[in-house]
Amino acid sequence: MQGLGHRPKTLPCKFFYDKRGSQLFDRICELEEYYPTRTEMSIMRRFSGEMATLLGKECLLVEYGSGSSLKTRILLDAMVQPAGYVPIDISEEHLKLSAQRLAQAYPHIEVLPVCADYTQSFALPRSQKQPRGRCVYFPGSTIGNFEKEEALGFLRRIAQVCGEDGSLLIGVDLKKDPAVLSRAYNDSAGVTAEFNLNILRHINSELDADFDLAKWEHVALYNQRRGRIEMYLESAVEQRAHIADCIVRFERGETIHTENSHKYTPEEFADLAAAAGFERLKIWMDEKKYFSVQYFQMRLAS
Ligand code: AVJ
Repeated sequence: MQGLGHRPKTLPCKFFYDKRGSQLFDRICELEEYYPTRTEMSIMRRFSGEMATLLGKECLLVEYGSGSSLKTRILLDAMVQPAGYVPIDISEEHLKLSAQRLAQAYPHIEVLPVCADYTQSFALPRSQKQPRGRCVYFPGSTIGNFEKEEALGFLRRIAQVCGEDGSLLIGVDLKKDPAVLSRAYNDSAGVTAEFNLNILRHINSELDADFDLAKWEHVALYNQRRGRIEMYLESAVEQRAHIADCIVRFERGETIHTENSHKYTPEEFADLAAAAGFERLKIWMDEKKYFSVQYFQMRLAS
């Protein structure tokens, strides 16, 4: 937990997702105020046919962070004779279960799960059918969790994975009225607050720590300059916590930065992806332009 030694203190947002955290995230996705999931689903439903046409037939679909794969199913339903589906996830248990379910629902598609941290390098399995192309699918605007620099490095690694004639289909949350953004991360039912606090609960059980959850408050604000929602936990009192063999002190009002969720304009994201070697061929959005799904191909070096 080196982030707690930093100034300001930080915790990595991947710690949100223990079992309870994943359930809380699923509940967030159903909130009226949290527009991203619903909006992305509607874009997928509406445009999956066009997406499938661009992917072409016998494409190998490689999904980063396979999740509950609801969006993936919409895509797979539309794809023409996919060469295979490669879900990549860090949680072995979760991956096996969702891969099994998918294989059952799609008996004609070869499912080749890879248990790996997709921010690191990993080997892509070979499908029985020789693919005509590869597409990396990265939905959910998880790219927003990365700092801009990290996002660029990550997109560059994706470019290596998908190869010369590969493509990228990615969900990206868009810049919009800050009031709408703020509501999405400060929901009235307090589910996002619970989700944020759960990071401490997770650390308590995982790392033998003793954070008192009653002494922390959820804060989410839109940083206009950096174009991102920032989530913090704010200490309501002066306090300390034990983590394994360490003691960490907190002032009253001191914060732990737990997450960034970057928002992009369509142009900003095209530029970022271009710096990683991708050319945008298509962008799909909802009517309010709240969310986007974007399709890129590797730009051929001339
Ligand atoms: C899963 C990273 C897309 O940033 O909106 C939801 C996580 N955090 N509410 C997001 C999240 C607080 C979510 N992502």
